[in-house]
Amino acid sequence: MRRKLVVGNWKMNGSLAANAVLLEALQAGLDADSGVDSAVCPPAPFLAQCQAMLAGSPLAWGAQDVSANAAGAFTGEMAAAMLADFGCKYVIVGHSERRACHGESSELVAKKALAALAAGLTPIVCVGETLAERDAGQTFAVVGEQLGAVLGLVPAADAARIVVAYEPVWAIGTGKTATPAMAQEVHAQLRAQLTDKNAGGVQILYGGSMKPDNAGELMAQADIDGGLIGGAALKAADFLAIIAAAR
Ligand code: 13P
Repeated sequence: MRRKLVVGNWKMNGSLAANAVLLEALQAGLDADSGVDSAVCPPAPFLAQCQAMLAGSPLAWGAQDVSANAAGAFTGEMAAAMLADFGCKYVIVGHSERRACHGESSELVAKKALAALAAGLTPIVCVGETLAERDAGQTFAVVGEQLGAVLGLVPAADAARIVVAYEPVWAIGTGKTATPAMAQEVHAQLRAQLTDKNAGGVQILYGGSMKPDNAGELMAQADIDGGLIGGAALKAADFLAIIAAAR
């Protein structure tokens, strides 16, 4: 049985004061033995705050992006080793907002995943189709290419150390969720692709308007191992309710 994992992607939200309130509420509401893994991914300037407030708690933390490079003249970028220095366990790579707004290719995303693994971090590799791609019947080709780029670059022995997040672009921040059956269909394909690389045990998260009222049904699907949560991760009660639904 794979453990469930619920990760909050705070995107570009938060402040020292607001985060302190949110993190305190999350810690107060989290059960150390819940059997569910959980983490928050704040904007990078707040990683030190997470390290100071969350060390020793069951709530892990991670970053939203990482450089493919180890060090040097890459203004504005953050190396995986730096994220590890701040206690990160996870780093999101290839979020659709970065693919769309920053032109990140699957090849670059794969290099970022490789850099994360080399520093001992767990990359959360995001894949997902746009509405136009779904309507054109390209969903499986698109997510297959996105995951395939990572599995093609990462050494075979490390493939099992990644996490995958299926986030249909049309479901992000729109209130439109994939039905559990639609999500499961894609997750099953991703599972098969991972199993081909001896990585069938990898956690595959669903993301896209996951809320307390739909989380249980989504995570009850055979190949949905948790959630990557945007908006609902900014409200302690909602995020805790999603973690509870993962049990
Ligand atoms: P929402 O939960 O706000 O739809 O965002 C999902 C997401 O993009 C998480 O990475």
